[in-house]
Amino acid sequence: MPDKPRLLITRKLTDAVLMRAARDYDVTVNADDHVFATDELIAKCQDVDAVLPCHSEHFSADVISALPKRLKIIANHSVGVDHVDLVAAKDAGVVVTNTPDVLSDATAEIAMLCMLGAARRGAEGDAMIRAGKWDFWSPAFMVGRQVTGKRFGVLGMGRVGQVAAERARGFGMIVHYHNRKPVPEHLAKGAVFHDTVEGLFANSDVLSLHCPAKPQTTGIINKDTIALLPDRAILVNTARGNLVDEAALADALESGKLFAAGLDVFCDEPGGNQRISALKNVFLLPHIGSATEETRDAMGYRALDNLDAYFKGREPGDRVA
Ligand code: 8YV
Repeated sequence: MPDKPRLLITRKLTDAVLMRAARDYDVTVNADDHVFATDELIAKCQDVDAVLPCHSEHFSADVISALPKRLKIIANHSVGVDHVDLVAAKDAGVVVTNTPDVLSDATAEIAMLCMLGAARRGAEGDAMIRAGKWDFWSPAFMVGRQVTGKRFGVLGMGRVGQVAAERARGFGMIVHYHNRKPVPEHLAKGAVFHDTVEGLFANSDVLSLHCPAKPQTTGIINKDTIALLPDRAILVNTARGNLVDEAALADALESGKLFAAGLDVFCDEPGGNQRISALKNVFLLPHIGSATEETRDAMGYRALDNLDAYFKGREPGDRVA
């Protein structure tokens, strides 16, 4: 029997995924689940044929140029691939895959949690009780914004955006979206297409971000685009922190231009943005959009499916480079 391919798994995955990986590969794991520094990542990659990383490992052009010839595939445990320089990977002949579809439900759930937490002041109420400061009640107390009947704007009507739209419809919201091109009607399900970002923003009482992080989308939420939103709109971000100019967002939350924001992602992770964390009108989560038991298994299996295909000489289903 030929030797199993050597595989580096950079972070702690579920037991079920690790068992399957160990059955089919000669696996190196990261026992204490620390984030590899760049030098360590390069060193760990030297004697493997494949790597299964998360978005916490950055495969810049420099890192890719330092990979050994034997390393042929980066099978990501993520749908986002902004942590990998795809052009450099392609030039180096390294295959790159991701894990679409399997995290759409989990991430859309977190988008709803962020939306409702922001609209109904979830973090503020929770913090008040925990601090032993709930000593008053009145009909005028902790009044939020109702989402029923409001416009739910989706920036990026891909897989996650479509599920988020479906969930928002469950709250009686009217879906609007902007995408590079309209999606077929059986997927749009009556959602109103806007061919410009400006058109979408002007029609979003809640704006939910579901586009990939690319140079063209960096800072797409900024002082000028926030001004296009209806007054007292709500921003939801479960995609990537760098879509948002966080200083401009903090200004808009402080001035009341925005009613609130629900954020699962930040420019600096882990950690977040201290100015935003100091505000009352935010509902914040630590990048847990896909963090469910079911989805962690499914993401791991999907990454292994891509590896299996590659090492059996087939085209991996989720190849992005
Ligand atoms: C994960 C993500 O938390 O898939 C992505 O792009 O950001 C998240 O689902 C992470 O990448 C898990 O490895």
